[in-house]
Amino acid sequence: ISTESQSILEAHQWLAKLYHHMLLNSKEGQDAYQYLINRGFSEETIKKYQIGYSPNSKEFVVTFLEKKGFHPQTMVKAGLLNANDQGEYADRFRGRLIFPLRNHLGKTVAFAGRSLGHQEPKYLNSPETELFQKNRLLYNFDLARAAIRKQKSVILFEGYVDVISADQAGVHNAVGTMGTSISSSQANLLKRYVDQVIICYDGDQPGVEAAVKAGRLLKNTGCQTFVARVPDGLDPDDFIQKHGGDRFKREVLDTSDTFIAFIMSYLRRDYNLQLEGDRIAYIEKVLQEVALLDRAVEREHYLNELASEFQMSVDTLKEEVHDIRGKNT
Ligand code: CTP
Ligand code: MN
Ligand code: MN
Ligand code: MN
Ligand code: MN
Repeated sequence: ISTESQSILEAHQWLAKLYHHMLLNSKEGQDAYQYLINRGFSEETIKKYQIGYSPNSKEFVVTFLEKKGFHPQTMVKAGLLNANDQGEYADRFRGRLIFPLRNHLGKTVAFAGRSLGHQEPKYLNSPETELFQKNRLLYNFDLARAAIRKQKSVILFEGYVDVISADQAGVHNAVGTMGTSISSSQANLLKRYVDQVIICYDGDQPGVEAAVKAGRLLKNTGCQTFVARVPDGLDPDDFIQKHGGDRFKREVLDTSDTFIAFIMSYLRRDYNLQLEGDRIAYIEKVLQEVALLDRAVEREHYLNELASEFQMSVDTLKEEVHDIRGKNT
């Protein structure tokens, strides 16, 4: 890596320590610490994830980095400092909870700063650098790798706190995509380790839409894909804090739908199946999805289901799927 990247990497290791220290030991960090405790995170978890606090100051980090001899321009590039027109520097993360974002080697390469009140944005993230590409990094992959490999299964969350909450509740094969999409490079990385992926995004509309997208991509990558549904518009962390980890495992993870079953119920919402036109359009949509399934037994399973629900002949449906597959290849 370039010397600039080397320096950015070093600055992140120092700052992760410093922010964490401020959360645990400083007076300014007390509210932030209490916020985490109120949200149900243990001190052990806070330490494991090296969660920190960036003091609400213009020059706390400026001074620190200067003393360590870092070039301020490089630190601006890394998103640790801001610069104004007069060439003055100021801290970029101020008064925020800090989640270090670690790469697959466990090195912190970026930060996510969560506001404690209602300031926008809720999450202020580091900009992309040579070391940090949002769609390449899988949050927590370094810590979860052993569990993922052992269980041949991974749970995919959209938020940092969902991952941390799940881990604290005993679900250790948890990674996050930092927002609501998964990229093909992330999907390919996961495919190397697992047979099975469970998508566990937020129970709100954006979460459901993102699960559809992620599911299609993972299916195409060749992963057995399941979708867990978090009820009542909660997100995974909300659910765990409200109902506990055991219920999360039993009622959310263990009842995951196969991707195709999830897609069927998702598509269903757009149609009034009492109407013949809608019914046909719906069946057509489902057949498109079924046609994408690699395994014949899997295709057959869903075709049987469709046939019996809509009182159609399986052979007709099979033929249709056969035609679609012919066109796709
Ligand atoms: N996100 C982001 N910038 C934002 C909002 C969200 O980068 N302004 C990303 C973060 O990675 C976040 C994820 O999207 O973890 C999911 O967002 P959201 O569900 O809104 O946040 P939560 O993870 O639920 O965080 P919290 O529980 O603290 O509100
Ligand atoms: Mn455990
Ligand atoms: Mn969300
Ligand atoms: Mn959420
Ligand atoms: Mn949340």
